[in-house]
Amino acid sequence: MTLATNPGDLVLDSFAGSGTTGAVAHKMGRGWIMVELGEHCHTHIIPRLKKVIDGEDPGGITKAVDWKGGGGFRYYRLAPSLLEKDTWGNWVINRDYNAAMLAEALCKLEGFVYAPSDTLYWQHGYSTESDFIYITTANLNHEQLEQLSDEVGPERSLLVLCTAFRARADLYSNLTVKKIPRQVLSRCEWGRDDYSARVENLPRATPEPGQMELFDKEESP
Ligand SMILES: C[S@@+](CC[C@H](N)C(=O)[O-])C[C@H]1O[C@@H](n2cnc3c(N)ncnc32)[C@H](O)[C@@H]1O
Repeated sequence: MTLATNPGDLVLDSFAGSGTTGAVAHKMGRGWIMVELGEHCHTHIIPRLKKVIDGEDPGGITKAVDWKGGGGFRYYRLAPSLLEKDTWGNWVINRDYNAAMLAEALCKLEGFVYAPSDTLYWQHGYSTESDFIYITTANLNHEQLEQLSDEVGPERSLLVLCTAFRARADLYSNLTVKKIPRQVLSRCEWGRDDYSARVENLPRATPEPGQMELFDKEESP
């Protein structure tokens, strides 16, 4: 550790195992990022690092560096891929995604801040104080979109990402209505290690008027 890093450096161990790298880095004043595929996070790493932080991990270099405890860490669980291939090889939304996970992922991809409202079902996030995003797996018809448009009102605008819609998308001046899959696919380069390159709020194309086909309804296994 002393050969290759200085205090304050970040140490990465992407095969964390029992978490020794992080424990040593922590005691030596380095920042650390550990990644682990297995259950070791829960069985070994988190309990161990908690002990390190509480000054209750006497092993290793504790004495040599006079470690007394302190600091902290954050733990994240990676979500599964947003898209998966169905039996026909088409990209479809991963079945493991529930509505809340889908909403959060698509907010990020569209450049909105995920902030679901407790009171307004159609506010899942915002880009400005008057521009909002609504994500739904529903197939929206004209009546539903009209009601949505009324609720949004003239002072606000709403991007509606839905699985499909049966209405003319250009009828509602305060709504931009889009189908999810094409949007997802056009913003991402799936299968790459770094998905951030195209995650940005690009200018929005004018939606095509007319009825749209149901996304993946017939294609799903
Ligand atoms: C030998 S241990 C690593 C020991 C650790 N680096 C240390 O210094 O004590 C290897 C670990 O890598 C994990 N692993 C294997 N493939 C992985 C992957 N693709 N992503 C994250 N962790 C992985 C295994 O579950 C295992 O716990």
